[in-house]
Amino acid sequence: MQHDIASLFGLALDACSRSYAPYSRFRVGAALVADDGTVFTGVNVENRSFGLTICAERAAVASAVAAGKTHFKTLVIATPDASYPVSPCGACRQVISEFMEPEDSVVFGNSIDSLVSVKVGELFPHDALHDLAHREHQS
Ligand code: THU
Repeated sequence: MQHDIASLFGLALDACSRSYAPYSRFRVGAALVADDGTVFTGVNVENRSFGLTICAERAAVASAVAAGKTHFKTLVIATPDASYPVSPCGACRQVISEFMEPEDSVVFGNSIDSLVSVKVGELFPHDALHDLAHREHQS
């Protein structure tokens, strides 16, 4: 199953309507493509104990892992409340590196006209703890 980036961004943007962000009012949606083409979405889920907030990217990963998928090819993130493309936070970069290869793509944008595409290896260079990873293709 092939997905173009525009439709994946559409899914991420649509997911933003389900974001739970009453504190920041900053909605984030993510669309994560597994290696078999299945797409999982995630939204940020905030909490009144602020440190418990879950980012959209990690919510999408958790949903996918719960469905039995642990290898992903593409992650697309929508941040419609920003005036510029917002890249994944540091914690999410670590989690993304667990399930995606350095050459896989992460695309982020606040609108369809502002998409930035980077490789996982660019987002998370000098991959921390990579020797502990259970990857088929370690670099
Ligand atoms: N957030 C994400 O969901 N993903 C990111 O990559 C950046 C930040 C969320 C966390 C919080 O709910 C809100 O955006 C503001 O930081």
